Amino acid sequence: MNNIQNKVVIITGASSGIGEAAAYKLAEQGAKLVLAARREDKLKSIANNIKAKGGEAVFRSTDVTKPEDNTALVELAKSAFGRVDAIFLNAGLMPSSPLSALETNNWNAMIDVNIKGVLNGIAAVLPTFEAQKSGHILATSSVAGLKVYPGGTVYCGTKWAVKAIMEGLRIESAQAGTNIRTATIYPAAVQSELVDHITDNSTSAGYRQLYDTYEIPAERVANVVAFALNQPEDTNISEFTIGPTAQPW
Ligand SMILES: NC(=O)c1ccc[n+]([C@@H]2O[C@H](COP(=O)([O-])OP(=O)(O)OC[C@H]3O[C@@H](n4cnc5c(N)ncnc54)[C@H](OP(=O)(O)O)[C@@H]3O)[C@@H](O)[C@H]2O)c1
Repeated sequence: MNNIQNKVVIITGASSGIGEAAAYKLAEQGAKLVLAARREDKLKSIANNIKAKGGEAVFRSTDVTKPEDNTALVELAKSAFGRVDAIFLNAGLMPSSPLSALETNNWNAMIDVNIKGVLNGIAAVLPTFEAQKSGHILATSSVAGLKVYPGGTVYCGTKWAVKAIMEGLRIESAQAGTNIRTATIYPAAVQSELVDHITDNSTSAGYRQLYDTYEIPAERVANVVAFALNQPEDTNISEFTIGPTAQPW
């Protein structure tokens, strides 16, 4: 069964880590991709790699905190491929620290990207999905959206918000009969650039040690994205937790 073939899928945070791995995985299975992140050079090289293997991908430099950038992705999907079938709201930041460090700029950045970025993506795609009475919205929350741990308080808050928004979206869509599906993914330690952007030194050292000990390749999360997208139209698999077998929390 391949329900991914020819689906037009927008991926935010496609320039590295989980988003990049999802781009390659979905392209292999015949999806037509719209790749989004801020680093255009990275997107270009990923799109070129996909095209070199016979896949289809376009890209656009995007800041998910800007509503108009999200709308432009939907327009790009329609102009390049004629429609949009799914969006993977994956862009995120994790510059964690204890609240007492008062890294308020990082608190705001996480709220802007991890929460408002997801809402902007939903707002951009929802009118199209409602009108066509189909569409799939996937989002990357985190195990931090299921637990709270010291040093990760604000990040956890943003990822709990993603869980709540996605569950509300699922229920509202079902009640409205729009046939829109949702999937929320809760990864634990996965290889990516996420930890590189932590500025608080002791937090950074702790995370680095955890990730070096446990992390699994981003492709494992891409497998879950593909599994969710591949389900038949009448089936919504709404939540997935995925992480290293050995990670003890
Ligand atoms: N790795 C893990 O262990 C893990 C665990 C649980 C959840 N997650 C979540 O997984 C998602 C992907 O992260 P990752 O682990 O793959 O880390 P990553 O390699 O750092 O990827 C983050 C992606 O988000 C993009 N991004 C950041 N700010 C953006 C903005 N304002 N506008 C558009 N794109 C933006 C980055 O691209 P640019 O810098 O080019 O914009 C990059 O493509 C995040 O939501 C993260 O919270 C990761």
